[in-house]
Amino acid sequence: MSDAVRTLRVHRFKRGDDAPRVEEHLVPAHEGTTVLEALRWIQLQEDPTLGLRHSCFHASCGTCGVRVNGRERLACVTRLSDVEGAVIVDPIANLPVLHDLVVDMAAFVARFPQPHPIVRESEFLPESSPADGIDDHERYEDCIECGLCLSACPVAATDDTYVGPAALAYAQRMIEESRGGDREALLHWADQDAGAWRCHAAFECTEACPSDVRPAQRIMALRRELRGRRTDHDRAVPDRPATVTGASA
Ligand code: SF4
Ligand code: FES
Repeated sequence: MSDAVRTLRVHRFKRGDDAPRVEEHLVPAHEGTTVLEALRWIQLQEDPTLGLRHSCFHASCGTCGVRVNGRERLACVTRLSDVEGAVIVDPIANLPVLHDLVVDMAAFVARFPQPHPIVRESEFLPESSPADGIDDHERYEDCIECGLCLSACPVAATDDTYVGPAALAYAQRMIEESRGGDREALLHWADQDAGAWRCHAAFECTEACPSDVRPAQRIMALRRELRGRRTDHDRAVPDRPATVTGASA
């Protein structure tokens, strides 16, 4: 028995469509019903073609990111009761939409300094022991690569060459404690036109991050590192390293 019926307005788009459309559904809801549960109800009861992505249902896989009434959210931990009125569900922004609420995350990963393997070999090396400042490192390790920070970023909204907050936070984390990575190459990557200096310090990424990575603060730390490097090297940079590349590098 449900407590209420809520209105969901869901973004729909399939390849070949001329334009996206909004589809309205009336969904039975209890006090704790999440946006993801409501979307799954639509998929199971009314339209199996609704495209969405999810896995863990508990904010750890990063796959269910959407915008709910314009704000970046993980659908699996956002309750309908947190939203007043109609619940408007859109895909995250600043990435190509493949199907309904599903965006192309390959375009997100491509922004990271490359190579960016899903499981880094260095994590299994015996010498990969935590360095001083482990709290900071633990914070970045919380990144679930959901893309919400990129969606919320006003710079990424107007400049698709900007590598974005998650990639820069990753680079800063690796520069702090490289685990076998090439620190100088990462600094050079971050110093590119589309890198750390492109951020306008809106801090929207930190606001949107569901995992307390605080990417904006990481970008500021990266800038401090780059300023020190420029002083150290009298703004001279080495030849571009071949081992670290990025989509916009
Ligand atoms: S930094 Fe935060 S918002 Fe950005 S991808 Fe990682 S977990 Fe998601
Ligand atoms: S389903 Fe895994 S984070 Fe939401």
